Amino acid sequence: MNYEVVLPAAGSGKRMGAGQNKLFLLLEEKPILIHTLEVFQQDENCTGIWLAVKPEERGYIEQLLNRFGITKVKGLPDGGLERQHSVHACIKNMDQVEIVLVHDAARPFITLPIIQKLALTAQEKGAAIAGVRAKDTMKKVINNVIVETVDRDTLWMIQTPQAFRFSLLAQAEDHAEKEGFLGTDEAMLIERLGHKVHIVESSYDNIKMTTKEDLMLGEAILKKRRE
Ligand code: C5P
Repeated sequence: MNYEVVLPAAGSGKRMGAGQNKLFLLLEEKPILIHTLEVFQQDENCTGIWLAVKPEERGYIEQLLNRFGITKVKGLPDGGLERQHSVHACIKNMDQVEIVLVHDAARPFITLPIIQKLALTAQEKGAAIAGVRAKDTMKKVINNVIVETVDRDTLWMIQTPQAFRFSLLAQAEDHAEKEGFLGTDEAMLIERLGHKVHIVESSYDNIKMTTKEDLMLGEAILKKRRE
């Protein structure tokens, strides 16, 4: 199933504390951003990449794309204040396609079988997102006090990619913008339209590079994959 992918890359990565966009940090001598882009560059079903970037970083990112032979990028629109705005900037610039994936540029370990399953499920059902089952006991806590132990069997930890029929995501984003609603992922916007979102079981390796510990984990995942 062919698709185009939106990669929001316009964050500041404060929690990484690197003093620069965390996507420029190196994992085995290659920027995190390039690790992520290479997955889609190598996927024959990916027909285009859209990168939301900070205007002041566009020049450097274009240099990286050239240096690492990333040729599928169709546009690098300005990102926004929040991740949702960055994704929306890409959607507004794209021509209509059948299936669009949204994937955090900070998740470099996504694999092609999961991407393909998401694209196919989105084609069939409209919306599909990657997630893994919660492993730990889960409790709802308010003011440091437990108010509920939640049934773990019903809980999933949500990742990206999130895959959609393009028309459905565009409609959900326009609706959210009109209502001034800010979600933490695209699925929330679809849920608000009353549309079902399906889960595709993903991998615990598909981490988002967020804090310094994730860099160590990332190196370990790359090493394991070479063995
Ligand atoms: O900060 P966090 O890692 O949760 O952000 C997830 C992804 O969204 C990152 O790839 C980041 O660059 C991107 N982002 C964005 N625009 C923002 C905030 C985050 O493109 N305003």
